[in-house]
Amino acid sequence: MDTSAYLRNHIRTVPDWPAPGVQFRDITPLLQDPQVFRVLIDAFVHRYMSRGMRPDVVAGLDARGFILGAVVAYELNVGFVPIRKKGKLPFTTVEETYELEYGSATVELHTDAVKAGDRVLLIDDLIATGGTMMAGKKLLEKLGATVVEGAAIVDLPELGGSGKLRAAGLPLFTLVDFE
Ligand code: PRP
Ligand code: HPA
Repeated sequence: MDTSAYLRNHIRTVPDWPAPGVQFRDITPLLQDPQVFRVLIDAFVHRYMSRGMRPDVVAGLDARGFILGAVVAYELNVGFVPIRKKGKLPFTTVEETYELEYGSATVELHTDAVKAGDRVLLIDDLIATGGTMMAGKKLLEKLGATVVEGAAIVDLPELGGSGKLRAAGLPLFTLVDFE
């Protein structure tokens, strides 16, 4: 089976959302069908179960990275930690602010979420400009952890994010590209 083509066929493109001119790649149909959901999760699990790839912990990016990350962590039998938009985490945090097209965003991570030396798999649904994943990487590194790989279902390579992340030394694993 061509997993990439199979998954691509279950991603819905919504034109002009959330703004005119944007082609929104909606991953919810991948989650809705149990057979497709299993193919999706297994694609990540098989990679990270393999020799030398198993992380110590999975970190998921708010909000769709939580859906994938938690299931992948469960299957790998490692812990899951959420990287949240500012103001949602109750304990002490480290934070990182990054630029959006208009304005900026801040994400946070609990200070005890990872330990120095932990090898972390960082998961989100999609890489666009790469700003969100880069901020996640920086947060984990502030706590002394190493992000061994960034993983996402979708890459939008024309937006330059994946190129920027790889240039910053982050290996990436993505399943479907959309131009
Ligand atoms: C989307 C997506 C990624 C991020 C990708 O999340 O789920 O997290 O944007 O964009 P980037 O590569 O340009 O940073 P969004 O901020 O819409 O949040 P949500 O998951 O809470 O809807
Ligand atoms: N889909 C989901 N999240 C996104 C997208 C998209 O097309 N673009 C930027 N964030």
